[in-house]
Amino acid sequence: MSGSLFALIGDPVEHSVSPQMFNEAFRHLGLHSHLYVGLRITPRELGQFAAAVRLLGIRGFNVTIPHKQRVMSHLDSLDRGASRVQAVNVVDNRRGKLKGFNTDVTAIMKLLKPHVHASDRAVVLGCGGAARAAAIALLELNCSEQAFVGRRLKTLKPMARFAKQRGIDASTLKFGSDELKRCISSADILVNATPVGMYPNINRTPIDREIIPKHAVVFDMVYNPAETRLLRNAKARGNRVVGGLDMLVTQAAEAFRIWFSENPPIEVMRRAARRSLEEFRG
Ligand SMILES: NC(=O)c1ccc[n+]([C@@H]2O[C@H](COP(=O)([O-])OP(=O)(O)OC[C@H]3O[C@@H](n4cnc5c(N)ncnc54)[C@H](OP(=O)(O)O)[C@@H]3O)[C@@H](O)[C@H]2O)c1
Repeated sequence: MSGSLFALIGDPVEHSVSPQMFNEAFRHLGLHSHLYVGLRITPRELGQFAAAVRLLGIRGFNVTIPHKQRVMSHLDSLDRGASRVQAVNVVDNRRGKLKGFNTDVTAIMKLLKPHVHASDRAVVLGCGGAARAAAIALLELNCSEQAFVGRRLKTLKPMARFAKQRGIDASTLKFGSDELKRCISSADILVNATPVGMYPNINRTPIDREIIPKHAVVFDMVYNPAETRLLRNAKARGNRVVGGLDMLVTQAAEAFRIWFSENPPIEVMRRAARRSLEEFRG
């Protein structure tokens, strides 16, 4: 197989673990002429980058903050998940035609599928891009009753609009409200889609241990550290848990499947991700 170039674009990209995950996978499979690079691209440079992808035949790229929405105007088509969430994190280049995917959605679906039942109630902490991906993934799993928790009406209102437009039976709540405790206590699925608990603030948790619902599955999207305080608390209370590192590796593995139409060496990618997160923490 001839060599191919892959990239992650974003701003910043310096601390991303994607280059390590993909380059380790390439090495493991003997694909020595494939290379994955992180590229800092500003919003103004996005159009030029898309032109360069077509011109140079860059085989595929991942997209991170702040380009997940903006990149869509430079693509030829979108898959169902990307179209529903209106955000793209993977682009596949087939002979100059660029197609956008959202493997955050597919990763969340894969990880939550064993735990979710059709009439479950979900509480999603956060109103950003990750919360939107969770909302669509849960909807695809037929979990349509969802509550979103935020700090400000400015972000809660658009989140509610986004969800309702897609047929989600959505409600919104503010962090710290009494209503929140009540709502969380009856949740079947609790998703943290905020950065609370992320390195270096590893002792923080988005909700207190006492209000973690008894029978819920608790999914924390934070991947650094792999076991957050929220997950530790939930495990100690006997809850089932899903971690952000699994999501990080699964979304990358789904990108690999899109580009290569074959299964990736997931454990190699997981080890590479863990190692580079440890190096980052020093
Ligand atoms: N594991 C994975 O593969 C994966 C994939 C995607 C994202 N993530 C993680 O998910 C988290 C969210 O990412 P995102 O892309 O959705 O970011 P985002 O678009 O910036 O949204 C972040 C959300 O968290 C809220 N928030 C931030 N700080 C908070 C605090 N101290 N207390 C309460 N709420 C707070 C924000 O509230 P405001 O609206 O009030 O600012 C916003 O609603 C990040 O930690 C990211 O690393 C993980």
